Amino acid sequence: MKKHNFNAGPSILPDVAIENAAKALVDFNGTGLSILSISHRTKEFEEVLDSAKSLFRELLNIPENYHIYFVGGGASTQFFHLPANFLGTKAGYVNTGVWTKKAIKEAKLYGEVEVVASSDDKNFSYIPKGFDIPTDLDYLYICTNNTIYGTEYKSDIDSPVPLVADMSSDIMSRPIDVSKYAIIYGGAQKNLAPAGVSFVIIRDDMLSKVVRPLPTMMNVNTHVENNSMFNTPPVFPIYVMNETLKWLKSIGGIEEIYRRNVEKAELLYNEIERNSLFRPTVEKEDRSLMNICFVMTEGNEDLAPEFMEFAKERGMVGIKGHRLVGGFRASCYNACPKESVEALVACMQEFEQLKTK
Ligand SMILES: Cc1ncc(COP(=O)(O)O)c(C=O)c1O
Repeated sequence: MKKHNFNAGPSILPDVAIENAAKALVDFNGTGLSILSISHRTKEFEEVLDSAKSLFRELLNIPENYHIYFVGGGASTQFFHLPANFLGTKAGYVNTGVWTKKAIKEAKLYGEVEVVASSDDKNFSYIPKGFDIPTDLDYLYICTNNTIYGTEYKSDIDSPVPLVADMSSDIMSRPIDVSKYAIIYGGAQKNLAPAGVSFVIIRDDMLSKVVRPLPTMMNVNTHVENNSMFNTPPVFPIYVMNETLKWLKSIGGIEEIYRRNVEKAELLYNEIERNSLFRPTVEKEDRSLMNICFVMTEGNEDLAPEFMEFAKERGMVGIKGHRLVGGFRASCYNACPKESVEALVACMQEFEQLKTK
């Protein structure tokens, strides 16, 4: 049976990236060696790294005064690396759920944190808007897509202080204006690669703003100066990331993937709205294109386990909602084909017919 992969991360990657990775596991670029057993200092791997960096720049239209580096440790490592580098006195954080709470906890180790806005009052089912941003902050921190709750910023906010964004779960899914941000970072294991590598896009002026002496690996300058090669970078995830970015370019880049993502999300949100058994959990204007959350309507809550089983029998994988939200979450990342979303919609319709006839 065909499987429809809605995992939240690690998650679906383009078939061609996985096929090429499978070949490279045996013979990387005709070297006669596996990608797993080559030195990161080889010319062949440096070409992969350079290609991934230049595709990042090209696809996201990253201005020249920004650096890009790749590093291990996951996004959670950046939760403390970034404040260690840049939180001298006070930073502002917008609290939109679990991932910003974790980032806030780490930032507090380095200085004062002002939570400038929060959607805590409604279980993080919306993105706070219209809040004041104090001008005495070292930086303002946001998470543009909240993987667990299915909320997403729909535009790049204007900030009078350096803007830092966790884009782990919506990087490369929609157009962004990089010039509005001082730092964009994320774990790559949703839209780009298998787990093991993070990306950091950092504006040049930030490199001279490091506020304290730091261990070498924690200092952002180390990674920029050494072109992601201060230590052994995650070779295989970077290889797959490059393949994913090549695929993204080949289909038409960010503009085309955004069109596809909007199309898929509309299909599913429309069905969630229409179907008498399901309802969305997020306010309309803040609904994520990537992580689509829904629950059973009032009075039908007991049907949730049955629908889960029903969907599983029809090939749906990874649609259980996070325990903090309950219900269901279909993660429709870039590589998720429209056919999978159509299959989920058909499954919801079939279930409704069965239960309401
Ligand atoms: C938005 C967001 N930020 C951060 C993280 C943590 O990433 P990592 O597991 O790479 O530390 C996740 C993981 O799912 C996430 O979705």
